[in-house]
Amino acid sequence: MNYKIAVIPGDGVGPEVIREGLRVLDYISTVDSRFHFEYTEYPWGCEYYSENKKMMDDDGLEKLEESDAIFLGAVGYPGVPDHVSLWELLLVIRKRFDQYVNIRPVKLLKGAPCPIKNKSTTDIDMLFIRENTEGEYAGSGSWLFEGKENEVVIQDSVFSRIGCERIIRYAFEVARKEKKTLTSVSKANALNYSMVFWDQIFEEISQEYPEVETHSYLVDAASMLMVTQPERFQIVVTSNLFGDILTDLGAAIAGGMGLAAGANINPEKNHPSMFEPIHGSAPDIAGMGIANPMATIWTAGQMLTHLGYPEWEEKIIHTIEQVLSEGNVRTPDLGGNATTSEITDAVIEKLSNSDIPINLIAD
Ligand code: NAI
Ligand code: MG
Repeated sequence: MNYKIAVIPGDGVGPEVIREGLRVLDYISTVDSRFHFEYTEYPWGCEYYSENKKMMDDDGLEKLEESDAIFLGAVGYPGVPDHVSLWELLLVIRKRFDQYVNIRPVKLLKGAPCPIKNKSTTDIDMLFIRENTEGEYAGSGSWLFEGKENEVVIQDSVFSRIGCERIIRYAFEVARKEKKTLTSVSKANALNYSMVFWDQIFEEISQEYPEVETHSYLVDAASMLMVTQPERFQIVVTSNLFGDILTDLGAAIAGGMGLAAGANINPEKNHPSMFEPIHGSAPDIAGMGIANPMATIWTAGQMLTHLGYPEWEEKIIHTIEQVLSEGNVRTPDLGGNATTSEITDAVIEKLSNSDIPINLIAD
């Protein structure tokens, strides 16, 4: 099978980590004869903006639509307002391609540093399923009387029944399949329309899944519990904004931004899904060759799962754990002095030494 992958390296450390993700994909496609990849790279991002006054080509979405998946580094850089870079590239892709499921594992890998005392890899093992196309990031609102004394801004949240039902049902399906508990995170005490509605739909859909144990927390309590009792959480479903915030907290308790992977999924496969690490362009370390590529490599694994080869994501996770556990090849964010590409060298070496199941050997 030949897959067309649209590659958007983006800004800052984006190109540095995407290069490494592609090296791993190339290695895997040479040892697994079932598929290979055809990449088309797009130079979109903030540098492109400074020359063209737009973040992507006018027909950028049509170009991306032709791909089987999108592999993206990060966008955003000082000089271009963050709301421009986010809204004109990342968020339009998520919305136009109806990538309504954002999957973000918060999983403490073996060998990764954990800032919480006495917590093990079994205590921190969550899967966040974040609503990704509406909610607080619907982009609706108004700015009235700009610059005047009576200036007012209104930012609307949009929670549609279809939008809430489909993300919550997706999470229930995952929880049922994996025989895990499902926790909904909301804030119905203060957000008396949107989150009351969310809770109601969570309750309604839970009736269809009597075998799934459920919990429901307010977002402020949930953020406290993620630190004090992370073992309470297995599968978690939440809104766009809450999921964005809680998964950065999740990254912090599970080894840092350099390890946090993320996938924007259109489950119906009507449009391409997009795979990007959750970190940004890290301008503070860009160009130094020390960004940790592990999050991006794991993200490449999520892409392989989406394309139908979940055994490779498992293998990638296992390999990253081996490199972390041995501890001698680490980037500075994990306390070492290895370069970005040295991490990939180590990952590929481990992949090549691991037992590849018979059916994966190239013929
Ligand atoms: P950031 O995630 O870029 O950086 C936060 C901290 O984590 C920094 O200290 C950085 O050095 C570190 N870090 C991030 N990725 C790392 C990696 N792979 N290895 C080692 N350390 C890493 O978030 P920040 O600084 O808030 O945002 C920077 C820019 O990125 C902004 O323009 C923002 O809008 C954009 N951004 C883009 C995202 C995307 O494209 N998906 C997501 C988040 C932010
Ligand atoms: Mg974020």
